[in-house]
Amino acid sequence: MFKLIKPILFAFSPETSHRIMLNLLFFLRYIPFSGAILRFFYTYKRDNLEREVFGLRFENPVGLAAGFDKNGQIYNDLANFGFGFIEIGSLTPKEQMGNPKPRCFRLLEDSAIINRMGINNKGIKYAVKSIKKRKPKVVIGGNISKSTSCPNEQAPNDYERSFAQLYDFVDYFTINVSCPNVKGLTKLQDITSLAEIVDKLTTLRKYYDEYRPILLKISPDLTFEQMDEIIELILVSGLDGIVATNTTTKRENLISSKELVDSIGDGGLSGAPLFERSLEIIKYINKKTGGQLPIIGVGGIITPGQAIQMIDAGASLVQIYTGFIYNGPGLVKSILKKISK
Ligand SMILES: Cc1cc2nc3c(=O)[nH]c(=O)nc-3n(C[C@H](O)[C@H](O)[C@H](O)COP(=O)(O)O)c2cc1C
Repeated sequence: MFKLIKPILFAFSPETSHRIMLNLLFFLRYIPFSGAILRFFYTYKRDNLEREVFGLRFENPVGLAAGFDKNGQIYNDLANFGFGFIEIGSLTPKEQMGNPKPRCFRLLEDSAIINRMGINNKGIKYAVKSIKKRKPKVVIGGNISKSTSCPNEQAPNDYERSFAQLYDFVDYFTINVSCPNVKGLTKLQDITSLAEIVDKLTTLRKYYDEYRPILLKISPDLTFEQMDEIIELILVSGLDGIVATNTTTKRENLISSKELVDSIGDGGLSGAPLFERSLEIIKYINKKTGGQLPIIGVGGIITPGQAIQMIDAGASLVQIYTGFIYNGPGLVKSILKKISK
């Protein structure tokens, strides 16, 4: 099925085909039994796929990474493709437009994407309204970020606003300080800035009856020294896990011509060329923490074998994004089959 649709989707720009996918999924809601049909073909349930990680129960360990369902509009439709969890966002306190278009590009030869979307989203209130309307069928992560217009010194307050407004509507949180497409955002990975954000959120969490795990999403471009500081902060502050990794600003391991890559310009690279670096980071974190820190492994998983490699390296759960675009929803089931074996 995806083989038929893919050439049509790929005839459009990545952002347009994403919008087409979104509209298609909206439309399918009105076709009787379409959800059941998708689930019949795409889901794969086995007892040995169930996981309990940071206190949450997952039907399976394969999730959709942040950036696909930015506004929390289609998580249940996406769940029909067999995902065990969906991370919505990144969301900011208010709607923002992101960077000027075009801002998303395919590197076909590399099974990769370069994007500089700039965290375009409709804001937390919109997402909350949407979630209230449709009770989630899977575990939902809320990926939160700082508004582009908010100076870094004010960032802890911005994260706090998003956190408070979304608290009752998601199962876990991911703090995104690693998107390379918002000026200055990755600077928030500096330990002093990060400690302030983490302190705000963990303090606020104490006032709620229900516990929500908080994870930190890191960049693959950190040095090992920076990672050491971050790991220490996570361990002492009571954060519940780490999402490794976001996209990279590096342009390594590419087959595509330098001319093509240069013509695209800035942005975060995702997909196959990112895999080895993300894997290296997961191995490092796992070793450094003696396997004590839950890791969501993400970055360049294009094949089931790569998902297994991430799990073997210490990831408790994995996420895909670019692999889902290139290989379609069938990738989820083939990863699950391989893990189950
Ligand atoms: C078009 C696009 C938009 C993205 N938007 C976000 C985002 O809003 N927040 C975030 O934390 N990560 C975002 N990501 C990063 C992904 O969640 C993921 O970490 C990254 O793409 C690496 O995984 P992959 O190689 O499987 O795509 C985005 C990625 C892409 C390709």
